[in-house]
This record gives sequence, structure tokens and C-alpha cells, in this order.
Amino acid sequence: MKRTVLDFREMKRKGEKITFLTCYDYPTACRCEKAGFDMLLVGDSVGMVVYGYAGTVPVTMEQMIAHSQAVRRGAPNTFVIGDMPFLSYQESVQDAIHNAGRFHKEAEVDAIKLEGGRRVIRQIEGIVDAGMLVMGHIGLTPQSTGQLGGFKAQGRTAESAMALIGDALAVEKAGAFAILLEAVPPELGKIISARCQVPILGIGAGIDVDGQLLIVSDMLGIFEAFTPKFVKKYANLSGIIEKAFGDYVEEVRAGKFPQEEHCYRMLEGELEKLEALIDRADT
Ligand code: KIV
Repeated sequence: MKRTVLDFREMKRKGEKITFLTCYDYPTACRCEKAGFDMLLVGDSVGMVVYGYAGTVPVTMEQMIAHSQAVRRGAPNTFVIGDMPFLSYQESVQDAIHNAGRFHKEAEVDAIKLEGGRRVIRQIEGIVDAGMLVMGHIGLTPQSTGQLGGFKAQGRTAESAMALIGDALAVEKAGAFAILLEAVPPELGKIISARCQVPILGIGAGIDVDGQLLIVSDMLGIFEAFTPKFVKKYANLSGIIEKAFGDYVEEVRAGKFPQEEHCYRMLEGELEKLEALIDRADT
């Protein structure tokens, strides 16, 4: 059965870990639902791992809606979160509410996620006031890697860690139902998880948070441009795909594919009729 915000709160209270994965397409979503993930994120990381952009900034609302619709079709009974792309919420609260609403109306997501701490409080409040669920996202925020100086771990000094604790509390106070904490030391993950009432989902935030997120293409070993320290590869699909492609190319070139079992046959007696028709046409 699909989880709700009440289940996530209860899971945190009981110390049950929340399982969370990114997902961008229908076939993967079908498998995620079978595996029983508690939540799926249609992340704007799709820009890097599916479209091959260098970062997430170019991703559009149209791309995010299309991928969210595919995931919803594949995982109708899983809690799905749509990720607000760059410039879909930064410019105004009105934009934020409108675009969060699009995710709900057009892709039937259960919640949206947006990046930023204190600087997006008005947007979080606006979306929550409009009746939608918001997941905050602090720490390494990929849409602002220009300001952060790259894809770098955050909160490694006492001062920057204090700033992130302040951001987490402000995002919680604004009404977020959960917060994603990316690329921070495990000690800070533990402190933020203990100080917030809402679930803290970690991606590179250590084990002492309320749940874990990984990027599906990282954990399956499909995305090879770079691998962050927090990734564990649970499979090497690149190797499997490369072998399959190589075998196919070799068999086609060698005339070994297709074989009898891959061919359609004409209906009984029809080949003889065809040959007669060809003979008549030729004479
Ligand atoms: O877009 C995404 O998948 C994300 C993760 C990098 C946390 O926001």
C-alpha cells in the first residue's frame, strides 16, 4: 500500500529506516514498486544521468513532468516526489505554487522537492499553504554548484554546520514534511536528524539519518562520468549492457542472428500461391 506522510513520521518515531531511490522512467519504476521502496524521487539529476548535461540547471518543467508521468504509470502505489527544476520556483512564490501544482495535476505526484534553506522559506510556505507536501533539500544543492564551487561536501566546518542546522530548522518550521540532506559529515547528519521532528533523508549524510537515497544510475553502475564518494554500486549494468551490445553486433556481422525461432512463417500453402503469382507476373 502507498505510504503517506503519517507513515513517514511514524517510521522516524520507531527508528524504521525509509528507503528512497531516484527514478526517471516506466520500466525502472515498475521494478522499484516491486522492490517495495517507501519513496521515489523523480530527480532533476535526470539532466545528468539521462540527458548527459554537465549539471541540472538546463532541466525544464516539461522534461520533469514527462518523466514524473512515466514513473507514476510504472509505480501507481508508491509515494512519488517530483523535483522542481532550476527557475521553476526561485523567481516568485506564485511561480513556485504554480509549478508545484503542475506536478500534481499533470503527473499525480504525492509531493515536490525544492533546493535551499532559509532563502526558499517563502516558497515552501506558499506551496504548503496551497495544500501540497514539500520536501526540503539542503547541504550540497546541485542547482547552485556555481556558488558552492562545484559538487563539494558541505558543513565540514563548525560555522557552516551551524548554518545547515539553522536551515534545517527553518525549512521544518516553514512546513516541509521531510528534508533531504546531501553530502555532509555523518556527525552533522546525526545532529540534524535528532533536532528535527520531520524525517531526514540522507544522500551522503551517514547512517544516523532517518532514511537513505541513492541515484538509481549510480547504484546500478550505469552512470560513469563520475562517482561521488557516497555511492555504493549494487550492480555493474554498464558491463552487462556493453557485453550484450557487443554480442549482438558480432552475431549480425557473422550472419548468426536471426535464427529460425526469431522468424515469422507464411500461413500454410501461401508461399506456393505467392510463387505462382510471381511467376504469372514475370511472364
Ligand atoms: O535530482 C536529484 O536526484 C537530487 C539528488 C541529487 C539528491 O536532487
